[in-house]
Amino acid sequence: MKKLTGPFSQIITLNNLPAKGAIKDEQLEIITDGGILTEGDNILQTGSFDALAKANPDAEITYIDGDFVALPAFTDCHTHICFAGSRAKDYAARNNGKTYQEIAQVGGGIWDTVTKTREASLETLQQNVIVKLDTLLKRGITTVEVKSGYGLSFDDELKMLRAIKQAGEKLPSDVISTCLAAHIVSKDFQNEATYLQFILDELVPIIKAESLTNRFDIFIEQNAFSIEGARFYLNQLKEQGFELTVHGDQFSKGGSKVAVDCGAVSVDHLEVSGEEEIERLAKSDTIPVVLPGASMGLGMPFSPARKLLDAGCGLAIASDWNPGSAPQGNLLNQAALLGTYEKLSAAEVFAGITFRAAKALKLFDRGVLKAGNLADFISFNCNDYREILYHQGELQAEKVWKKGNQII
Ligand code: NIG
Ligand code: FE
Repeated sequence: MKKLTGPFSQIITLNNLPAKGAIKDEQLEIITDGGILTEGDNILQTGSFDALAKANPDAEITYIDGDFVALPAFTDCHTHICFAGSRAKDYAARNNGKTYQEIAQVGGGIWDTVTKTREASLETLQQNVIVKLDTLLKRGITTVEVKSGYGLSFDDELKMLRAIKQAGEKLPSDVISTCLAAHIVSKDFQNEATYLQFILDELVPIIKAESLTNRFDIFIEQNAFSIEGARFYLNQLKEQGFELTVHGDQFSKGGSKVAVDCGAVSVDHLEVSGEEEIERLAKSDTIPVVLPGASMGLGMPFSPARKLLDAGCGLAIASDWNPGSAPQGNLLNQAALLGTYEKLSAAEVFAGITFRAAKALKLFDRGVLKAGNLADFISFNCNDYREILYHQGELQAEKVWKKGNQII
């Protein structure tokens, strides 16, 4: 059954834009009074609504009344939305002068969330993820990456990964899970080496057997994992065919080099990356993912998004939604603010939360409204796409379609 939806005042298809490098708004394909023709899960065609209606008299038509701008649905390619508890007291402590690292050293920070997440049941965690996925769907985010990393033991990492998987099955969102057992060294182990070996020897076989994820992440930082430890761990996982991603260059340099050397799909954070790191990333296939919500949560400068784009990188933007460094979680607000501070075109911001973010998850069937892609699209109540970022996240998606079905 063919379905035609429209007319939209504008459809911003994001078609024919480069996977890497800077993009000007003049490069955007804008279809005025446009329609989106779909069949099953996929897009058949975009174009003039009237022309599509004429050429497809058999299509079921959903009329859009009023001014709406359509875009591909968004992807949030880096979140930690599976957790229990709050870290409001860390936020207050930071604003009273303590650093993120100092709070971690005295047993707060990530370990505090680990304690609360361990106490929560699988059902509670699953429900927490469902509530957040639902919020994200209402904001037009239909593809979401979710990491483990607050369990840090055999039972609790598996509990998290199972909760993420089961939550994803209950909603229309596409959920991509990632094992971040290497978030910090678990206090239950003597040192980094014994903990990483435990993950490889005991956790990985179960993850494989239950198909819980094919992606692994590691936080490379003082107070987390060393460059040498991470290199060993990532290479072991690579040999087993897993996809890799890295938390790197957040407070100190080094992580992005390991990511590139190990062939990671993405390296995320990059707040302190300099010229050398940017150049290395531009020459590599590792995608830089910047996390403005973490800069906002920690009161740190934004990652060098403009420089990364100008160097030729395919920049993705994600929320990093987590209870510690990035508690706000509003991707559109964060991407819009990053654009304002880093001087990114609307095209670069939208690319960063659509097809470039999907690419960071190795998904090549979404984020551009073109024939054959998933019919995941959203619309905003305005008549000019520039209104969307201008409102800095206050104008949220009003209608959301997933695989051709209107879900909101
Ligand atoms: O991406 N940097 C490491 N991990 C998370 C924060 C996790 C937390 O503070 O709970 C991040 O910022
Ligand atoms: Fe993160």
